[in-house]
Amino acid sequence: MSVREYNDAEENPVTDEEMEYILRCAQRAPSAGNLESWDVVIVTDESVKEELSDAAFGQEHIRKAPVILAVCANYVRSMSQYGERGILYAVEDASIAATYMMLAAHTLRLHTCWTGAFDDEHVSETLGLLKHARPVVLLAVGHGVLPEQRAERMDISEHIHEEYW
Ligand SMILES: Cc1cc2nc3c(=O)[nH]c(=O)nc-3n(C[C@H](O)[C@H](O)[C@H](O)COP(=O)(O)O)c2cc1C
Repeated sequence: MSVREYNDAEENPVTDEEMEYILRCAQRAPSAGNLESWDVVIVTDESVKEELSDAAFGQEHIRKAPVILAVCANYVRSMSQYGERGILYAVEDASIAATYMMLAAHTLRLHTCWTGAFDDEHVSETLGLLKHARPVVLLAVGHGVLPEQRAERMDISEHIHEEYW
């Protein structure tokens, strides 16, 4: 469940131990050729979160969550081995690593919100990303408030194709 309400970041921070657990879990994620073609910028500074929130078109949870994990695809790492295909692999590696971060956070009873709507340039400038890194997700992490209702899903049969699409 995506959590977008974080009210008491100062009273309920994410501890260093929790962060280390989350990052160590992410490192166990599979990656193409085991190249781990992802990097993460850990953001807790209020003014940087403010700037990231602007980059994410004013999304409040980016400003309010105690931690934002900016997970990036590292193109150089994967393209040096896989050429053009490495572009896709790096995005996959970053996505899987971020998913592991979410799952690890959830085992610690932390909440998260995957945030993909942002201006790439603005995020890159704010975080001083190198040219070969692409921000894939701003993952908000913290102790938040669960939404009252679970988001609906399509009927699962709409996803499933037997033997042939
Ligand atoms: C690629 C991607 C981009 C997303 N971008 C945003 C976003 O910018 N802002 C946001 O609040 N949620 C974002 N989400 C979360 C989705 O809105 C959410 O997962 C979906 O509505 C289902 O709700 P649930 O996670 O609560 O089950 C994104 C999720 C994914 C996977």
